[in-house]
Amino acid sequence: MINCLELREIELFYKNRRIGDKISCRFEKGRVNLIVGRAGSGKSTLLRAIAGFHKEFSGKIFADDMSFDSEGRIALAFQNPENLFFNPSVGDEVCYALIQKDDKEFRQKGIAWLEKWGIEASAFWKKHPFELSGGEKRKVALSACTVLLPEVILLDEPLAGLDFQGREKLAGIISQIARDHIVIIVTHDPENLIDLTGRVLFIGDQAVEFKCVNEFIAKSLQEPDFYPLPDWYVQAMEQKPIKKHIPRLRAESVFKYLQGTAEDADYLFAG
Ligand SMILES: Nc1ncnc2c1ncn2[C@@H]1O[C@H](COP(=O)(O)OP(=O)(O)O)[C@@H](O)[C@H]1O
Ligand SMILES: [Mg+2]
Repeated sequence: MINCLELREIELFYKNRRIGDKISCRFEKGRVNLIVGRAGSGKSTLLRAIAGFHKEFSGKIFADDMSFDSEGRIALAFQNPENLFFNPSVGDEVCYALIQKDDKEFRQKGIAWLEKWGIEASAFWKKHPFELSGGEKRKVALSACTVLLPEVILLDEPLAGLDFQGREKLAGIISQIARDHIVIIVTHDPENLIDLTGRVLFIGDQAVEFKCVNEFIAKSLQEPDFYPLPDWYVQAMEQKPIKKHIPRLRAESVFKYLQGTAEDADYLFAG
């Protein structure tokens, strides 16, 4: 199993036009890795490049210091993956990759993954994917992405369009997978993922790698133009009462980080 996926001086292009800054970054297993940046900064293109679908780039990708070949080792869930359903039933959709690989246990695995993402397999197995609600479609798409559970899982905006509870639940499952897989998530709204995150890669006119999420938040608080954090972070930092439990803990840990008074436990919390 890979422990670390490393991008070395990656430059992305479309028809010789360069997208954003040169990117160097390490992604590790254990915690979720986040890629953030404004719309059009190249986040989706970078995921497609890592997965081997976008070929127009320079630089190198390494897995544990060996040249990385994505073939069979990566699953990518595209932005709005539910638009790409092409099978006539939920069961066929989820099991497609397993059947392609002649996996005899395709049915058990498909059922297990649907249930894990929160879809009652018996009720949904024969339904047409287009009959489902937005949230159900997303869970089916994520099941189809994880059934093979390769070493590296790339998810492009997996929580977009879901309500807060839905996002919390999916974020919990993603974080479980990240314990022993390299999980890289593109998001424009890190709220539900931030406490589960290890490294953060910001891309745009400049690319910046943060080794822990507190470092990213600290920079964003010090330079509000760098990355606009959700309001509740700013409120928490001003020590105003906030309703949410986890962000408050995070805010306190970032606060200590900024003051230089963080203890070991805070760094542990910081990932
Ligand atoms: N197929 C394409 N051909 C040419 N340019 C593209 C194509 N897809 C995306 N781009 C351009 O590449 C840049 C990055 O796009 P994308 O990776 O989708 O950004 P993000 O996911 O961060 O919103 C944008 O400027 C976009 O216009
Ligand atoms: Mg995108």
